[in-house]
Amino acid sequence: MPVSTLTLSDLRITTHQGGKLRTLVDGLSLSVQAGRVLALVGASGSGKSISCAGWLDVLPSGVKREMGQARLGDKAISFAALRGRVVGSIMQNPRSAFNPVMTMRAHARETLKALGVEYASLDDAVIAAFADVGLDDPAGMLGLHPFELSGGMLQRVMIALALLGNPPFLFADEPTTDLDLVVQKHILDLLETLVTRRNMGILLVTHDMGGVARLADDVAVMDQGRIVEMAPVAQIFAAPEHVITRNLVAAHLSLYGQEVA
Ligand SMILES: Nc1ncnc2c1ncn2[C@@H]1O[C@H](COP(=O)(O)OP(=O)(O)O)[C@@H](O)[C@H]1O
Ligand SMILES: [Mg+2]
Repeated sequence: MPVSTLTLSDLRITTHQGGKLRTLVDGLSLSVQAGRVLALVGASGSGKSISCAGWLDVLPSGVKREMGQARLGDKAISFAALRGRVVGSIMQNPRSAFNPVMTMRAHARETLKALGVEYASLDDAVIAAFADVGLDDPAGMLGLHPFELSGGMLQRVMIALALLGNPPFLFADEPTTDLDLVVQKHILDLLETLVTRRNMGILLVTHDMGGVARLADDVAVMDQGRIVEMAPVAQIFAAPEHVITRNLVAAHLSLYGQEVA
């Protein structure tokens, strides 16, 4: 039976800075549901990326997870077991995520190896995955290197690779930040299809409130390592409570007017 809820609770992340212990994330709890998008918003440096890294067990050295639990449905699951199979992940700046001397086929092979997934034909599986994310000429992509692809194409490839393990959930950390406006829209369209067609549950880390208005069902607002407000998207825009949320919404409305949908 497909599991419909991923519950992440009580994440605490610390680091040592100048001989002192600094708390980067303090008691972060979120729950991501199949077929829904939870947006995680907040100023730069508020702890969004480090939280994702904490949940997926890929924290940089010198940064430590002190607490935190994950449950899939009602079963506890280790963070290491989440990555790839349960939660696919994509990041900002797709170009930096690829090795410049490796072809797309080699990247896919590495991804599958890390996942421990085997396909009868690697090429067929990857071509299907590339076609699924809307890449033209998916077969022709296999032999290409990162420099031969645009940022938007690389982001599609990153999404395709994240989906190779067929995870029910996706963490997308600023997936559109480094892309131009038209491509941003295409990537948001693609994320929307993953929700509607595959019933995926997405954690969308972003500072783009336009993208939030369009895609999110619920919004969690983060400030200095803590969630300061969590509410359905309509409530966030219509009646933001916390000053951080009010500022985010006000900044968005002053740029784009009252159109939030
Ligand atoms: N490798 C690291 N070592 C120490 N501190 C870090 C490291 N990476 C991020 N931080 C700190 O963690 C905080 C949150 O960073 P981050 O999660 O990247 O913010 P966001 O993604 O919300 O912009 C920041 O204060 C940042 O300086
Ligand atoms: Mg970040």
